[in-house]
Amino acid sequence: MQLQVLNSPFNQEQAELLNRILPTLTESQKVWLSGFLAAAQFSSISGSGNAEVSEQPGGITAPVISKDVTILFGSQSGNAQGLAKKAGKKLEAAGFQVTVLSMSDFKPNNLKKVENLLIVASTHGEGTPPDNAISFHEFLHGKRAPKLDHLRFSVLALGDSSYEFFCQTGKDFDARLEELGGTRLYPRFDCDLDYDEPASEWLAGVLSNLKEADAGSQVPVQELVSQAVESTYSRSNPFKAEVLENINLNGRGSNKETHHLELSLEGSGLTFEPGDSLGIYPENDPALVTSLLEEMNWDPEQQVTVNKKGEILPLKEALTTHFEITTLTKPLIEKAARLTANENLQELLSPGNEEKLKTYLDGRDLLDLVRDFTPWVGSAQEFVSILRKMPSRLYSISSSLAANPDEVHLTIGAVRYEAHGRKRNGVCSIQTAERLQPGDTVPVYIQHNENFKLPNNPEAPIIMVGPGTGAAPFRSFMQEREEIGAEGKSWLFFGDQHFVTDFLYQTEWQKWLKDGVLSKLDVAFSRDTAEKVYVQHRMLENSKELFEWLEEGAHLYICGDEKHMAHDVHNTLIDIIEKEGGLSREKAEEYVADLQQQKRYQRDVY
Ligand SMILES: Cc1cc2nc3c(=O)[nH]c(=O)nc-3n(C[C@H](O)[C@H](O)[C@H](O)COP(=O)(O)OP(=O)(O)OC[C@H]3O[C@@H](n4cnc5c(N)ncnc54)[C@H](O)[C@@H]3O)c2cc1C
Ligand SMILES: NC(=O)c1ccc[n+]([C@@H]2O[C@H](COP(=O)([O-])OP(=O)(O)OC[C@H]3O[C@@H](n4cnc5c(N)ncnc54)[C@H](OP(=O)(O)O)[C@@H]3O)[C@@H](O)[C@H]2O)c1
Ligand SMILES: Cc1cc2nc3c(=O)[nH]c(=O)nc-3n(C[C@H](O)[C@H](O)[C@H](O)COP(=O)(O)O)c2cc1C
Repeated sequence: MQLQVLNSPFNQEQAELLNRILPTLTESQKVWLSGFLAAAQFSSISGSGNAEVSEQPGGITAPVISKDVTILFGSQSGNAQGLAKKAGKKLEAAGFQVTVLSMSDFKPNNLKKVENLLIVASTHGEGTPPDNAISFHEFLHGKRAPKLDHLRFSVLALGDSSYEFFCQTGKDFDARLEELGGTRLYPRFDCDLDYDEPASEWLAGVLSNLKEADAGSQVPVQELVSQAVESTYSRSNPFKAEVLENINLNGRGSNKETHHLELSLEGSGLTFEPGDSLGIYPENDPALVTSLLEEMNWDPEQQVTVNKKGEILPLKEALTTHFEITTLTKPLIEKAARLTANENLQELLSPGNEEKLKTYLDGRDLLDLVRDFTPWVGSAQEFVSILRKMPSRLYSISSSLAANPDEVHLTIGAVRYEAHGRKRNGVCSIQTAERLQPGDTVPVYIQHNENFKLPNNPEAPIIMVGPGTGAAPFRSFMQEREEIGAEGKSWLFFGDQHFVTDFLYQTEWQKWLKDGVLSKLDVAFSRDTAEKVYVQHRMLENSKELFEWLEEGAHLYICGDEKHMAHDVHNTLIDIIEKEGGLSREKAEEYVADLQQQKRYQRDVY
């Protein structure tokens, strides 16, 4: 790379001199010069004192730079990644030298060289690390993990308190780094779904502690925290997108109801790439809100304060738009126990009753709670103060911006079930299925996802496994590849219950197949035959060819159900590699881990 001094503190004459000499320097001369300047600067700031110095190539001694901060993130759907990048920018602005990396891109052996480590990690599955954190998590918990006496660290854990193993991955990292000898630079913060505020607080704490050790920084912490507020449309400032279309994709008689939703992004300036998701802030079912108000005999119009900023809303509106009322969590029960005279709720929280509490929380909502633990002594204001803010729902985007400018399409499966004698509705999916009409607006934001992306090389083959709503991002992939005229082969495995009623986007796949945008399509309709047929059965039937595609450099994607499908497809993939590659189970697993490392195996699962 040609070095040139352009925008610099030097005057024109100095810049010209530097630009004359820089191109003539050899690599080792450049290294010598940088060491020389660093050493000169160091001695002018702190004299020769007791500072630690290290030997540089070229024989010059230079100070050990303690302003280096490494930020590692483990993120499935982009939240932790976004926060890590934001933290990186803030630290850089404060004068630190920052490296922000996915855990899967970090060489664990380099840990010994890191002095200041920040970890931002979410939790997935049932308390397990996100895909890009698995190998680092394993390394750190294994025998080869190094002693880390020199390390200063802090962990920001993301999670959802409705899960049993809340923020488990962050907790694991935090405990293990301490066990290995690291010193906590700032305490771990465990964030629930509404993570913006605690994440900013954590960053401010980390910064002030880093700066204590490094008095050189000029940027006031408060300024840095306020910079976290974004100016364009974002998760904390969603755009009101107008509904353009809302169509049920399933035919009459289907057990399923999957809505194709088209929204306008016109005027928002929002952009996205295939593989990204859209976040929607939904509204609660008005009938459920009314039942709650009636049950508690609350005045729907009474004013309540809904957040720390002091925003005030009528109670009915607050319960409809601002608060989560359909999920019970342990922290909520702990706070609710102070608002009832019914001792049974406290009893549920007492040691030894953990299983009983877990069973109670499962499938129940706020209406159940207020019915089950009367009499309530708290006011409506006290009650709403203990509720979580309505979390957004993410949806894999099913369109390409290149093919549909100013629009975003989603594929939303309706969630309906019965629990504890009452019919229950998923908040966002049923708002979409039953109440959203063209012309209405919904608050949305783009969730970029670097971990689910088409190959950079449009000639690389892709294999897409997406049963049910899992097909969504692959519609976006196909639209994009058609638009850019990508030459790479592509293969879709799609499945759902019945061919006749549930073949989502059937005509579109078939057209792409005819036009050569899609090279192969294999379908598995699980309830059309006596024996269930799933996508992984189709993969097995095609194992030889599938392995050949992988050997040719194909990228493999899985999208859809996390609990069962994604695990089964993952195991089938290992079976196929074991069989067709003539490998042991262990080697086949390594093959898959290697694909993951190369970002050729990516999952968008929920
Ligand atoms: C990255 C990502 C991408 C996603 N993409 C899509 C997509 O493209 N399409 C799509 O449809 N969804 C997608 N989802 C899921 C989506 O975000 C929502 O979780 C889903 O629509 C349900 O939201 P809801 O508000 O309708 O239901 P909620 O009100 O959130 O209710 C769902 C909850 O109800 C409970 N529940 C559900 N069924 C039962 C049952 N039988 N018994 C007891 N409890 C039950 C569970 O706790 C479940 O988490 C995605 C999720 C993520 C994280
Ligand atoms: N975490 C969340 O908040 C959340 C919210 C909503 C939905 N989800 C999950 O997302 C999934 C998506 O729902 P969807 O309606 O699009 O599709 P789906 O329920 O996953 O069904 C699509 C197809 O996959 C089949 N299938 C079931 N188990 C499978 C397995 N182990 N391996 C492979 N295929 C399997 C189904 O067959 P059969 O039905 O015949 O078995 C069906 O043919 C749901 O299963 C649900 O679990 C999660
Ligand atoms: C399928 C799935 C499983 C999850 N499991 C857990 C869990 O076990 N514990 C937890 O605290 N949070 C869990 N979460 C919540 C996520 O950690 C949370 O949404 C986080 O903000 C995601 O961050 P990311 O986008 O960086 O992955 C789960 C989320 C999903 C979609």
